[in-house]
Amino acid sequence: MIDVGINGYGTIGKRVADAVTAQPDMQVVGVAKTSPNHEAKAAVKREYPLFVSSDDRVEAFDAAGIPTAGIVDELIDTSDVIVDATPSGIGAKYAEDYLEAGTPAIFQGGEAADVAEVSFTACANYDDAQGRASARVVSCNTTGLVRLIEQLDEPFGVDRVRATLVRRGGDPSQTGRGPINDILPNPVSLPSHHGPDVKTILPDLDIVTVGLKVPATLMHVHALSIDLNSEATPAEIRDRLDASDRLFLVSDEMGIDGAGKLKDFALDAGRPRGDLWENCIWAESIAVEDGELYLFQAIHQESDVVPENIDAIRALVGEVDAETSQAMTNEALGLGL
Ligand SMILES: NC(=O)c1ccc[n+]([C@@H]2O[C@H](COP(=O)([O-])OP(=O)(O)OC[C@H]3O[C@@H](n4cnc5c(N)ncnc54)[C@H](OP(=O)(O)O)[C@@H]3O)[C@@H](O)[C@H]2O)c1
Repeated sequence: MIDVGINGYGTIGKRVADAVTAQPDMQVVGVAKTSPNHEAKAAVKREYPLFVSSDDRVEAFDAAGIPTAGIVDELIDTSDVIVDATPSGIGAKYAEDYLEAGTPAIFQGGEAADVAEVSFTACANYDDAQGRASARVVSCNTTGLVRLIEQLDEPFGVDRVRATLVRRGGDPSQTGRGPINDILPNPVSLPSHHGPDVKTILPDLDIVTVGLKVPATLMHVHALSIDLNSEATPAEIRDRLDASDRLFLVSDEMGIDGAGKLKDFALDAGRPRGDLWENCIWAESIAVEDGELYLFQAIHQESDVVPENIDAIRALVGEVDAETSQAMTNEALGLGL
């Protein structure tokens, strides 16, 4: 069994914890956070040993009647691998601690690429990450782009990608984020950082991205235009995308016209927290004009990186290859709608 410690038990950390618990070859040995809020209570209810970020925070947990198992340093020492899911920038502050303890670490996409030895998406570079001391699971948007491009590249060849990312303003729980009633070019300076982030995994790809932020919390939506270097019909592309369990083709008959119905569909399907781990690609949007492929996909920002974190754990400290790991993750979580 791989003993996994999870530093940061928020949007990503709590989902990774449950996903670890669902796997046959790993277990959660503790989760860590700073404040004794409802998520701390939820961690205790799920029987995850709860660690506190520092000594001076223990009193607050005691006062709230929330039992704790120790300080995060102890969790780092006793774990076979740490998944860092602290807020952007905090992971980099812990990087030295992980290194000193000799505990391999997985960071998230909010950290700069140089926080880890390698940026990671399972379908693209699992082998590169094997046995490394650290890996960074790229952001939700980057993960969604890499998965799609990789699936298309092998049979058809991807020459060039241009993508417009319509991004949610914040997660449902991020009450301080916006915009509330606006449409923001974001970042205003072009192109956006997402293309370079994809290139941390696919360095030779010609990709340019632009981003906007809109008053939504549910999902991101990407409008893509992809130059293929071989002839492909929309039917062939649909078949290829349909073959991957991490891509979900939304068929016309489903009557799903946007992110709201996608989330409703996920809840009806019994998905925990209404999560959609897969890229959701509208089959009807797939069109080819003069060798250029066009499509729309929606990305559930809170959950698409979760299976990638599980595969990153196996890449760093497990003993199985890329294909086996992804199959195990998909099976245990129930990917493939
Ligand atoms: N949310 C998304 O849509 C999304 C998608 C992909 C990637 N990511 C990336 O994933 C990472 C985590 O994001 P998130 O959205 O999950 O953040 P989040 O919801 O704010 O959760 C962060 C967690 O870290 C804890 N924390 C804060 N400071 C800490 C410290 N010094 N030591 C230990 N724990 C600490 C927080 O605990 P307290 O609440 O107790 O302070 C909270 O449990 C970021 O790099 C982000 O960019 C996020």
